[in-house]
Amino acid sequence: MIDLTKAEREFKNYINNYDLKDPHIERKVIHSYKVVDVSEAIAKSLNLSDEDIHLAKLIALLHDIGRFEQLKIYGTYRDNDSIDHADFGIKILFEDGLIRDFIEDNKYDSIIYESIKNHNKYRIEEGCRDKELLHCKIIRDADKTDIFRVHFDDITKKENVLTNYEKIKKQKVGTKVLNAFKEFRLINFNELQSDLDWYLKDIAFIFDYNFPKGVEIVKEKGYINTMLEPIEDEKLKKQLDFIRSSLNRYFEKN
Ligand SMILES: [Fe+2]
Repeated sequence: MIDLTKAEREFKNYINNYDLKDPHIERKVIHSYKVVDVSEAIAKSLNLSDEDIHLAKLIALLHDIGRFEQLKIYGTYRDNDSIDHADFGIKILFEDGLIRDFIEDNKYDSIIYESIKNHNKYRIEEGCRDKELLHCKIIRDADKTDIFRVHFDDITKKENVLTNYEKIKKQKVGTKVLNAFKEFRLINFNELQSDLDWYLKDIAFIFDYNFPKGVEIVKEKGYINTMLEPIEDEKLKKQLDFIRSSLNRYFEKN
């Protein structure tokens, strides 16, 4: 049985070990809860059983558990300057054994393990079985959808803590990033050459959705247009037009 109330209580206990007044920590806490909501919406849109809906929500709650310790130890959320935060989360849950605080029953362990491990990877590893694959896909869609929301809030609420828009709009889009937009695919970390590239990487998330629900939310909220607005600049115009037309072609096709 999955007791979400207990899991949420334990999650609160866990994050109390960190400085909740730190806006970077706070952002990840909010993100975790928001991803729970999106995962629930996706699971319901797929007409899944209550058991699978609860499991999707539990995975969402725990998917970024590695983030808190990552920031504490390394002072950054950039995985390639520190540690893969999904692998780190898996270590905390399954090597250190924290998972049993959140769910007593171990029958979902392999699904939780694979879903968290794969949530941030370029693609889902080979060899996942049916239920593992289903939940990997749900968390990947839900996470991406809320990352769009995080950018959207940063821009519309004028928080401006996530991205230095003035700085990145003076940069150029890397060739590899433009290629990814042309090819309708995700962008690899090793293809990123500037902070602007890092920012655009998150827009390319749109190419990796598994189910319609998340895309629906992204479109309905206008996340992508909002993300492109603050980097509008004469020098970048050609490149941004190229990205926009790629996105339009992608939406027409899909
Ligand atoms: Fe994550």
